[in-house]
Amino acid sequence: MKVTVVGAGYVGLVTGATLAERGHDVTCVDSDLPKVRMLEAGGVPIHEPGLPELLAGVRKSGRLGFGADVAAAAGGAEVVMMTVGTPTDPQGKADLSSVEAAARTIATGLRDYAVVVEKSTVPVRTGERVRRTMERNVRPGVEFDVASNPEFLREGTAVEDARKPSRIVLGVPNGRAEKVLRRLYEGFESPILVTNVETAEMIKHASNAFLATKISFVNAVSRLCEKSGANVEEVARGMGLDPRIGAQFLRAGVGYGGSCFAKDLEAFAEIASQLGYEFRLLREVQAVNREQRAHVVELLRQELWVLREKRVTLLGLAFKPDTDDVRDAPSLDVAQRLRAEGAIVRAHDPVAGAKAKAMLPDLDLAADPYAAADGADAVVLVTEWPAYKGLDFMRLRKVMRQPVIVDARNLWDPSAARAAGFHYRSIGRP
Ligand SMILES: NC(=O)c1ccc[n+]([C@@H]2O[C@H](COP(=O)([O-])OP(=O)(O)OC[C@H]3O[C@@H](n4cnc5c(N)ncnc54)[C@H](O)[C@@H]3O)[C@@H](O)[C@H]2O)c1
Repeated sequence: MKVTVVGAGYVGLVTGATLAERGHDVTCVDSDLPKVRMLEAGGVPIHEPGLPELLAGVRKSGRLGFGADVAAAAGGAEVVMMTVGTPTDPQGKADLSSVEAAARTIATGLRDYAVVVEKSTVPVRTGERVRRTMERNVRPGVEFDVASNPEFLREGTAVEDARKPSRIVLGVPNGRAEKVLRRLYEGFESPILVTNVETAEMIKHASNAFLATKISFVNAVSRLCEKSGANVEEVARGMGLDPRIGAQFLRAGVGYGGSCFAKDLEAFAEIASQLGYEFRLLREVQAVNREQRAHVVELLRQELWVLREKRVTLLGLAFKPDTDDVRDAPSLDVAQRLRAEGAIVRAHDPVAGAKAKAMLPDLDLAADPYAAADGADAVVLVTEWPAYKGLDFMRLRKVMRQPVIVDARNLWDPSAARAAGFHYRSIGRP
């Protein structure tokens, strides 16, 4: 099938390449010209394991092309997917300006019937707005349907997730659109769930909100563990063995971050409120997450007493391992909180340094963890990169001014750190 993907970011690029791998004829278009040029020249604009290899394969097959002209690429496509960003606007609502712009441009380009798919995460009822916007801009006589096919891939395992989605949700207005989308996903072995458009939109927001709730829940439990002598890791294990609860997303730490959870929770709470329901549970989930970031700084304060002029090293800047994405990364928040108290922050990350520096231009970056910790009064482990797991505690201790570690992801073994002479704090472990 001829497929156009509008927005060649984390979702669009991976989705487009995966569909091309399945034999579809895919064009990824983006309004960011330098990005398009880079892709045309064979470059890969993001760090995502397996993506360079996937792109190399489909580029060779000739089934994946790039461009910047959305209208031209939409013309002749049977499926047009919108994978543009949907950040939070200043009021906390989803900023749908990119979706609106994409919908208008796609409409002007359509020449034959096409299914226009919302793959971006959007509040319930956005499909209706997309349809009305397109109706005003489409050429007379050209038919189209608007469907919702939310994306559940995770950065860091995006390629794997796109090849084998946990589920394929098709929110469709009629059987005609359903047929087209079923053909698009022919050969995928994942369960397919067909719903109306509103339900599909809601499934995505509800899923992310539920996952964030799990994280905040275990973080709240971790605080109680710290006050009572219980061990949150064992508590989580004991809970997770219950199949009704499940072990995933029950890891206590500095809280969630990334481009999705915070903004999707905010947008979900906002649309709920607009629809006349105050989703107070979500507000509490957000509050616990914010407190967890502040708590990491409090642990440092407990160890170092005064933070002013203390040298603090952050290990890990990406919001999670195996990505270079620093959008809403806890590291940046912790760095700013520390600076506000007069601490001197230095950091290391295996891949996300450049993107973090774009957000915090005067961030002091080191080439490796030991250089980052040289002369430091404390190390804070913020992202649980596998490379940090085997750090040499003795070597680390030798280069530091004071032997203090705050392990905000419970990556290390407390007894090993203490045996090396560290004052070691982690989350919810005695
Ligand atoms: N990143 C994830 O892990 C993930 C997972 C599931 C769902 N989502 C959702 O998918 C959507 C995209 O997320 P992302 O992380 O890929 O974003 P991204 O910022 O990486 O990519 C979006 C791309 O769209 C382009 N764009 C914006 N407006 C455009 C327009 N009018 N025409 C053409 N291109 C345009 C941008 O230049 C950018 O390259 C969001 O709604 C997000 O919530 C993201």
